[in-house]
Amino acid sequence: MKVVVIGSGLMGNGISLACAQADYNVTNIDTFPSAIEKAKTTTAKLYDKKVAKGKMTREQADAVIARITYADTYAAAADADLVIEAVPEKIEIKKAVFAELAKVCKKEAILVSNTSGLSISEIASVTDRPNQVMGVHFFYPAPVMKLVELIRGLATDDATYNTVKEFAKSIHKETVDAPELPGFIVNRILVPMQNEAAFMVMEGADPKDVDTAMKLGANMPMGPLELTDFVGIDTMLATMTGLYNGFHDSKYRPCPLLETMVKAGHLGRKSGQGFYKYDK
Ligand code: CAA
Repeated sequence: MKVVVIGSGLMGNGISLACAQADYNVTNIDTFPSAIEKAKTTTAKLYDKKVAKGKMTREQADAVIARITYADTYAAAADADLVIEAVPEKIEIKKAVFAELAKVCKKEAILVSNTSGLSISEIASVTDRPNQVMGVHFFYPAPVMKLVELIRGLATDDATYNTVKEFAKSIHKETVDAPELPGFIVNRILVPMQNEAAFMVMEGADPKDVDTAMKLGANMPMGPLELTDFVGIDTMLATMTGLYNGFHDSKYRPCPLLETMVKAGHLGRKSGQGFYKYDK
């Protein structure tokens, strides 16, 4: 199966690695060459660390990295059997990408979105094959996290669902079926908790106290604010805004502090500053 991943950001790069680690040859497409360069550097550092820790040999690491090729035009998706889109979480951007993919991909190709909560049916509506479109939601970091959520749009057919489920198994992921509702399962529960943690900081709590409390009192591997910095404050805010707009319910209102942080360019680990400071 020829797999193409669209987007070289945190998720697109991680999904490419998850596939490459399971022996798939992957083409990663990003129309911004600088994003591709950044992904290559991140990957090289990640695998240098694994080699240094004795988790894999240099040869094994190089073999994984060599299974990913990069391209900066959608034409490289022409012979894909499965295209996994992981571009920014904005419906206009996703729709533009899917409209482009429908033009260049062969008619049998399955097109899936890694959206963390947008409507699959809406994304599918701009293609010539809504029956072959569905959601496959990975979690960050994608090579490590065991779950993917499978989301069928209104038109997704059984053949598409079954092929994608088999693919998910082949890259060693557990699957759950999630309803086509904003946030699906995990983000609908997890992201409001992160949002609540941001409200606590806005109201004067120390981020370290909030995170320590949740790590030691609720056995989270990372505190909610560390996790927000880890996935990106912009990504988390976009997901929360998606819940708010999708359900039209004030219980999902995004914390204003998150909006201010994004405006200030405090995006978490990737920018060097979020709830905590990081060495770039
Ligand atoms: N990309 C790829 N792999 C990564 C990584 C990254 N950014 N960060 C860590 N890893 C890998 C490491 O290479 C390491 O692999 P090896 O065992 O082969 O060496 C492994 O993860 C463990 O890493 P560490 O030993 O450095 O650190 P750790 O034991 O503290 O684990 C963690 C790190 C797995 C990220 C852990 O802290 C954790 O599970 N955190 C919570 C993650 C989480 O909740 N994710 C969901 C986010 S929500 C989401 O993704 C939804 C959305 O739509 C945005």
